[in-house]
Amino acid sequence: MKKYSVVICGGGSTYTPDMLELLCIIRKSFPLRKVVLYDCAEERQKIVGEFGKVLFAEYCEDVEFGYTTSKEEAFRDIDFAFVQIRAGGMELRNQDEKIPYRYGCIGQETCGAGGLAYGLRSVPQMIELIRDIRTYSGDSWIINYSNPAAIVAEATKRVFPEDKKIINICDMPTSVLDRYLPLIGKKRCEIQPIYFGLNHFGWFTKLLDKKTGEDLLPKLLEYIQANYERLHKEFEDEIQGETDHWGITFLNHLEMIRDFPYSLPNTYNLYYLYPNKSYSHYRADYTRYDEVIGGREKNVFSFCKEIAALGRMKGTKYDISQKIDPATEVVADMTVDSMAYNDVHAAYLVELVLSIINNAHEFALVMVKNDGICPNLDPEMMLEATCLVGSQEIMPLCYGTVPQFEKGLLENQFACEKLLVDAIFEKDDLKLLQAFTENRIVRDAEAAKQIIADFKKANEGYWPEFH
Ligand code: NAD
Ligand code: G6P
Ligand code: MN
Repeated sequence: MKKYSVVICGGGSTYTPDMLELLCIIRKSFPLRKVVLYDCAEERQKIVGEFGKVLFAEYCEDVEFGYTTSKEEAFRDIDFAFVQIRAGGMELRNQDEKIPYRYGCIGQETCGAGGLAYGLRSVPQMIELIRDIRTYSGDSWIINYSNPAAIVAEATKRVFPEDKKIINICDMPTSVLDRYLPLIGKKRCEIQPIYFGLNHFGWFTKLLDKKTGEDLLPKLLEYIQANYERLHKEFEDEIQGETDHWGITFLNHLEMIRDFPYSLPNTYNLYYLYPNKSYSHYRADYTRYDEVIGGREKNVFSFCKEIAALGRMKGTKYDISQKIDPATEVVADMTVDSMAYNDVHAAYLVELVLSIINNAHEFALVMVKNDGICPNLDPEMMLEATCLVGSQEIMPLCYGTVPQFEKGLLENQFACEKLLVDAIFEKDDLKLLQAFTENRIVRDAEAAKQIIADFKKANEGYWPEFH
């Protein structure tokens, strides 16, 4: 039986502990020989790495586990590279989110001015990282999670046009499915969705029942309409405090479905379609960055430190033994809770990998070059679309003609992202200004100029030098 070797780039990411636990939990379905963490921040990664040592010693002692800041050590002899780096770290996420507010714009990690600023850091680092992985493991699968994924995908497509084993993936469309399908008594493994868009800007337009072929989307939308007041109240009750980012997001998302009651949209469409409402829900001095630093990051790291200090998990409240059960190793619905505080991220990535190694052709929502998926959109667009995932290829399903409303939105966003990537490669200041001005959430050239000027200062050493 083949055993696989995995590297997690961004080993110090808050998502890594979950991934490590899941790899132990599903070790029979995804047999491993080696797991190594790689990060450029030694101290940060050490916290997660020391947790990993305890975890693997107890639950997967036959798997070689380690962590390193050496690329050669990390990338040699790898079958799968999970990449979840944050170029510039959380400190610069803070700037991405705060600077646009000075000029009346929303500050967000992946959308609007903040997302563009992040893209300017992420693209050079991702290109370097992929080159390095390819130097040591030319044939490995590179599964990229690093944001802003749409911009990273546009850039990596240009630099590695023939490399079919780089996959950019996001959890959001899948999360939307997992949230709404239970309303009509369905699970994701029972349906085949049809989805199209750019990353963080897309729509489900069909939810096909795998058994009967029936499109269940109309049924779901009717259910939402018929039960709107109750659902709205439930979503509202879920919100924990005025800064609960995801609680507020899902409430707004429900309102968006009410307003455009013919598809199931990505939550991120909110920023583009409801900039004023999105803006009014945000606080310039306390953004999602502050929530993450005081919440997930704090929890994940203290969890890791506690386990490293205990030196064991078995027999403690952190024991994952009860989760290592053949029943939880089912591929199709693996959103098992782990102890490590996050949720679905690792499960979605591992589902993708299982479809690859088993040549299962399960669907996944990943980024692929348009090339006719949506014939009335630019063939060069990196679309996020339904794909069937096998061991030799990622096969997108043809979507067909995109309606006018969505087409206009996507073409605008693509122009913005394309200009940004052009600006990076050509170090072109004018294209930089055009990219920011083109963006629906920025819009205004005067604001764009000021935001860019502040971002240039904050991103010294990370952004290319523009002329
Ligand atoms: P994080 O800041 O907690 O972790 C990122 C880690 O990457 C840090 O330990 C940092 O030191 C490391 N890093 C930064 N640059 C690096 C480089 N060049 N080489 C190696 N390591 C590097 O961030 P997080 O919140 O855990 O998120 C990780 C990434 O995953 C981010 O890019 C985030 O936007 C992305 N993400 C994407 C999705 C998606 O839908 N695709 C979902 C969740 C998170
Ligand atoms: C979703 C998106 C990601 C994004 C993340 C931010 O999962 O799909 O692209 O990075 O949210 O989450 P956070 O909890 O860090 O704000
Ligand atoms: Mn995403």
